[in-house]
Amino acid sequence: MSRIDLEKFSKYSKPGPRYTSYPTALEFNDDFAYERYLKHLDEGENRLSLYVHLPFCRSACYFCGCNVVFTSKEEKLSSYITYLKKEIDILATHLDSSREVTQFHFGGGTPTFYKAFELDEIVSYIKSKFPNWSSDAEISCEIDPRFFNEEQMQVFQKHGFNRISFGVQDFDPKVQQEIHRIQPYDLTKAAVDLARRYGIESINVDLIYGLPYQTFESFKKTLEMAFSLDPDRLAVFNYAHVPWLKKTMRKFDETTLPSPDVKLQIFSYTIDFFEANGYKMVGMDHFAKPEDELFTAIEKGELHRNFQGYTTKGGSNLIGIGLTSIGEGVGYYAQNTKDMKVYEEALDAGRLPFERGIELNDDDMLRQAVIMELMANFSIDIKRVEAEHNIVFADYFADALVALEEFVEGELVTITDTKITVSATGTLLIRNIAMPFDAYMGKYGGSKKSFSKTV
Ligand SMILES: C[S@@+](CC[C@H](N)C(=O)[O-])C[C@H]1O[C@@H](n2cnc3c(N)ncnc32)[C@H](O)[C@@H]1O
Ligand code: SF4
Repeated sequence: MSRIDLEKFSKYSKPGPRYTSYPTALEFNDDFAYERYLKHLDEGENRLSLYVHLPFCRSACYFCGCNVVFTSKEEKLSSYITYLKKEIDILATHLDSSREVTQFHFGGGTPTFYKAFELDEIVSYIKSKFPNWSSDAEISCEIDPRFFNEEQMQVFQKHGFNRISFGVQDFDPKVQQEIHRIQPYDLTKAAVDLARRYGIESINVDLIYGLPYQTFESFKKTLEMAFSLDPDRLAVFNYAHVPWLKKTMRKFDETTLPSPDVKLQIFSYTIDFFEANGYKMVGMDHFAKPEDELFTAIEKGELHRNFQGYTTKGGSNLIGIGLTSIGEGVGYYAQNTKDMKVYEEALDAGRLPFERGIELNDDDMLRQAVIMELMANFSIDIKRVEAEHNIVFADYFADALVALEEFVEGELVTITDTKITVSATGTLLIRNIAMPFDAYMGKYGGSKKSFSKTV
């Protein structure tokens, strides 16, 4: 991996989706009627994956691309719980609430901005309305180590949480100062130790490369410090810089962001570093220990990608609960409103706060299958796609195959009659390699104001 031609690679630095969904969220629209969404909920038979968005944070991390509400007002936090309960009540009337829950995730924002008793109240309420949790359900929470205490951990233990993801981003003091997130190593270590003491089986650490003032040398140190925490999984995200969407990102002096070739150098070193230390790469930005269930999933071709990254629990119906949250089922994506007032008004009127989304047509479903397969498993089984979608791959994707030629010439992709395979080095450009299969890409060709850069 270390022998890649960084200059050659830098030319691929262009705006492109991260494909946590296909079609991407930019295609979500108002044509998806509320009644149609209810029909999807009602007709779904799959197991349930529940995502609950707790959007509040005390102060802004300037790099943050998440849907966040900044506040320190207690009454806002408690009023949100009242509305979450209303949403859960209404949901339970529109879908069979005895369906098995195989996944539950608290995302944010900072879920642990809530006190222990409040977290307990939310999970208990959900369990009272959706009681059928499978014994091996994956129950997880995103945690900012700066807001985490033992009482909260006790609540997580009580409710069977078995996964925790800690936000770290970078350990370098200068970078932390610049991103407005001071988080000393000892504080992070204490948070990880607390979770371990309570028997959390899977601990994930999030890092980001591409942040201001990061250098190859500084990130090397961050990697070593992250490794010393012995996490079961790590996510090493490419910083998505979208200042036209997120005001706080405008605080960065763009000349201090590492250049595409430095970023590539950092990420290819990251891959080498973790592989040399017993981890394996999963998908485009995750690393895990080889005994992790993600690998068995890869071997069986059952690794899936969704809004929360990579998962083994495919085939379930993801229900988004809370402000801005996104749900996903066979043939649709559905997103709740981003506006707190609208959220509350909908619920007061007895409606779900569903706002927009997309129902997939046959072409969308086919491309979704191909792109998600590429993003998760770095290959496409042509014969399987042909059989499942009743097409001749070479005809249907003639344009995409032509567009892939430059990657074939660069030995980043191999194409045979039965399979498309991305090489280890090619995985660094997986977003670029997926883009030719995206029917909506033409709409944004060259537009800077849509996606973050791929490299
Ligand atoms: C929703 S955040 C919640 C985590 C938690 N609030 C915290 O900060 O520790 C989940 C992760 O998204 C990643 N993230 C946020 N903004 C990002 C951006 N602009 N580009 C890439 N990754 C980002 C960070 O690694 C963060 O830990
Ligand atoms: S990174 Fe986490 S703590 Fe920071 S603003 Fe975003 S959601 Fe809040």
